[in-house]
Parts: sequence; C-alpha cells; structure tokens
Amino acid sequence: MAVGTVLITGGTGYIGSFTSLALLQHGYKVVIVDSLYNSSKVSLDRIELLCGKRPEFHQVDITDEEGLNKVFAAHEDIDSVIHFAALKVCVLGHPRHASAHENTGCWRIRRDPLEYYRVNVGGTITLLRCMQKHNVHNIVFSSSATVYGDATRVPNMIPIPEHCPIGPTNPYGRTKSTIELIITDFIDAERNNAKKANKPFEQWNGALLRYFNPAGSHPSGIMGEDPLGVPFNLLPLLGQVATGQREKLLVFGEDYSSRDGTAIRDYIHVVDLAKGHLAALNHLRDAKPGVRAWNLGSGRGCTVFEMINAFSKVVGRPLKYEVVGRRAGDVLDLTANPARANEELGWKTELTLEDACEDLWRWVSNNPKGYRQEPPKELLEA
Ligand code: NAD
Ligand code: WQD
Repeated sequence: MAVGTVLITGGTGYIGSFTSLALLQHGYKVVIVDSLYNSSKVSLDRIELLCGKRPEFHQVDITDEEGLNKVFAAHEDIDSVIHFAALKVCVLGHPRHASAHENTGCWRIRRDPLEYYRVNVGGTITLLRCMQKHNVHNIVFSSSATVYGDATRVPNMIPIPEHCPIGPTNPYGRTKSTIELIITDFIDAERNNAKKANKPFEQWNGALLRYFNPAGSHPSGIMGEDPLGVPFNLLPLLGQVATGQREKLLVFGEDYSSRDGTAIRDYIHVVDLAKGHLAALNHLRDAKPGVRAWNLGSGRGCTVFEMINAFSKVVGRPLKYEVVGRRAGDVLDLTANPARANEELGWKTELTLEDACEDLWRWVSNNPKGYRQEPPKELLEA
C-alpha cells in the first residue's frame, strides 16, 4: 500500500518531475496536475522508465477551480499537495507568446506582471480553496531564494538564514513572497477554525521551501530540464553554448564586489532538491509544525566565472563568453544558510557542483532536442 497520495501541481516540469520520481521511489502514490504550459508529457515516460511506476496525470490549469475540484474528487486518498505550478522567470520568446512578442531579451515578467499574479497568486488561492473543500491539509510550496532580494542590504545576512528580511527585487519574487503570506494566513485561519470547532487543528501544515539555484539533470542522462522557450538561467544557457545552439554566454556584470567581480549563487543539484521535498513532506506529516520556511541550498557560493570554468572542465574545452552589463534585478550574493533544513528536516545536499555539471552535460550532449527526441539506446540500456 502507498505511504500516502500526493497531488503534485506542475509535476511534469523540471523540479516537479524529479520530485514525482523521488516520491514514487519512496512508496508514495503521485497524482500530477499540469497545464503543460512549460512542459511535456514525455517526462511521465521518463519517470516510468526510471522507477517502473507512472504518476496519474491530469491536464488541468490550476486557475480552473472546477477542473481542480474534479481531480480532488476523483482521488479521495490525496492527503498532501506539493505545489510547483507557476509561471517562472523567462525571457520573452516562450512559444506560447511568440506571436505577440519577439525575443527581445527582456523578462516577460517585467512586461506582463498581471499574468504572473493571475497564475501564481490566483492559481494558489484556487488550489487552497480546493484543498479546504476536500479536507487536504498539508501543502509544500515552491518558494524561492528570490524572496530575500539583496540580502547584503542587511549586515551579516550572508549566508542567508530564514530570518533574513524578505525584500524581492522583481515582480516574480513578489508573487512568491505574497503566496508565502497567503499560505501562512490560510493555515493559521484553518487551525483556529478547527480549534474553535473542537476538531484536531494540528493537521493543517505548510512548508515554504526557498530554493536556491536548481541545477543538473538525472545521472542516467534521460531526464532533465527542457524549457519550451528561451532559457533564462545560467546553466541551461551554458549547456546551449556547449552544444553549439548558442554562440556565447553573456556574463551579466563583472563589477560586483565578489572575489572575481561576478555574482555569487548557491547551485543545488535537482536530485538533492527533490529529496528536500520528500523530507519536508515527511516532516509536515510527522512533526505537524504549522507553517515554516526552510532554505534548500548547499551553503556554498559559486561565481559566474567559477561556474563557467567548472562546466568547461566537464565539457573538456573552453566555452565562449562575453562580459556585458548587469541584468536588471540581479543581486550580488544568494548563498543559503541551510542549517534549519539540515537540523529540522534531516536533509542536506549530497551532490556537488561538479556532479550537477557532469549530469547536465550528459543530458544536453545526448539529448540536444530535450524531450523532443528519443534518448540514445546506450543510455536506455545502461
Ligand atoms: P517549470 O516551468 O519546469 O515547471 C512548472 C510547471 O508548472 C510546468 O510543468 C508548467 O507547465 C506548469 N504550469 C505553469 N502554469 C500552470 C498552470 N496555470 N496550471 C497548471 N500547470 C501550470 O519550472 P521549475 O523550474 O520546475 O519550477 C517549479 C517551481 O519552482 C515554480 O513554482 C518555480 O517558480 C519555482 N522555482 C524555480 C526555480 C528555478 O530556478 N527553476 C527557483 C526557485 C523556485
Ligand atoms: C545566475 C547568475 C546571472 C544568465 C533566477 C530567478 C530566480 C529563480 C531562479 C525561478 C546570475 C548570471 C545568468 C546569463 C549570466 N527562480 N547569468 N548570464 O538570477 O539567481 O535566479 O532563476 O524561476 O527567481 O531570478 O539565476 O541562473 O538566471 O543566474 O551572467 O546568461 O548567472 O546574472 O548572477 P538567478 P540565473
């Protein structure tokens, strides 16, 4: 029998697919809801190839209350939700918007913040209403280190602890910090309502997982990040330079006060990140902590130049780059203090930056078209 049934919104996406795999491998039953806005159903095949089990899948938009209610009604055993579905930061050029906008290198979020609020914030409210209606009490939410903004504005906040003041520097980050508040208010209210009705209140719990920079792919080389539009993040872009799909990487600024002038991030292997969700879910179910935030990061900072060097080493040749000006909204340093997650969730990163680079290279060099091609036979047979 399954140890529990988890609804995963956004479960065919990058982090969602790795988390679905981790949950299935640990005996959970997984029900995915995804609109396929930025993902494909092929990720379900890869999950099945890797663990022999296939998640249930429903193509539903999280802003569609009726559709979402039907999924909860069809799976009365759902006891928890992991909520990934969101519009994440991307540059204009996503195929769903290509007709409206050419890729100008601008962030879509800066042109279209209302759409981000509609989907991210509105979709979360719809999801919480459905959870309330169907008595599903645990939610693990994909937040982001981006909610901290420029942590160097406050003395002694690097590496960043969870009590660092929130201060996102872009509308995407503000959708995430707003959702954190909504989940906190919602669960507080449900706990109070339950108390007043003399019902068990401890059952309502929420984990706000603040991811630092997810990186890497599955070590098998058959599952990885496959964004439908123009990638926004450093590693997928470096992957495109390495496979010749992009001429060079643009380095956004070398005038930061870091050891080499480029900005510092805490890159976390997506397999470790997926395990963090499992740890958080188990903690909610066992310890019933109410709502709590946890940083999911390694605690090690890496500059852009260090990342280019690490990936070039794995690829075996130098990768072309050009230094340009800073990107609007970027900050100097986002390095996690992961002590709270280490102690309370019993979770820590196990894989290194080199592992992330090697796994990414295995993925992009063998699958230059991502999920739009069959993986090489030797990888399937390995
Ligand atoms: P992703 O785009 O690969 O996954 C998001 C999934 O949500 C996709 O499968 C997409 O199709 C789905 N989705 C989007 N809108 C939807 C809607 N209205 N209804 C149903 N499904 C919808 O992104 P990811 O990198 O896997 O990110 C997952 C979550 O983690 C997101 O909430 C993101 O904001 C957050 N996050 C990501 C990063 C990162 O760098 N990747 C960092 C911090 C936080
Ligand atoms: C890392 C470093 C860039 C691309 C963003 C979002 C955040 C989050 C994850 C998701 C930075 C530099 C990058 C390039 C570069 N959530 N860089 N050239 O900015 O830390 O976080 O993605 O949806 O909310 O803000 O990650 O990978 O984009 O950048 O020099 O072409 O690499 O300036 O210092 P970031 P990133």
